[in-house]
Amino acid sequence: MALYSEKVMDHFMNPRNVGIIEDADGVGEVGNAKCGDIMKMYLKIDDDVITDVKFETFGCASAIASSSMATELIKGKKVEDAMALTNKAVAEALDGLPDYKMHCSVLAEEAIRAALDDYNSKNKA
Ligand code: FES
Repeated sequence: MALYSEKVMDHFMNPRNVGIIEDADGVGEVGNAKCGDIMKMYLKIDDDVITDVKFETFGCASAIASSSMATELIKGKKVEDAMALTNKAVAEALDGLPDYKMHCSVLAEEAIRAALDDYNSKNKA
């Protein structure tokens, strides 16, 4: 079996939603100390719905594919549904990741949660 699924290769070669959102409602940045990879997520949220999401990832192929897939999974979703996104769901949507690459999908889950936390902390009365 090939190391990476076709979906991983597709999202790595043609990542969706790359970039930044200047006036984002929530921004989250996380890193993995072991591999040194960094992921940053920007969310635009309107009436508790994620209307736009962009990311910048300085990392491995799996981290880029995971961030790309994660942005697709949460776009158009409600904040609370995006909060429930797990790295497993990201990896499954990519048709799997090698075991030693699962931490790359964890980075995507953490980056989204950090951006949502940022949004929530700014929007508490
Ligand atoms: Fe670090 Fe993939 S090797 S995120």
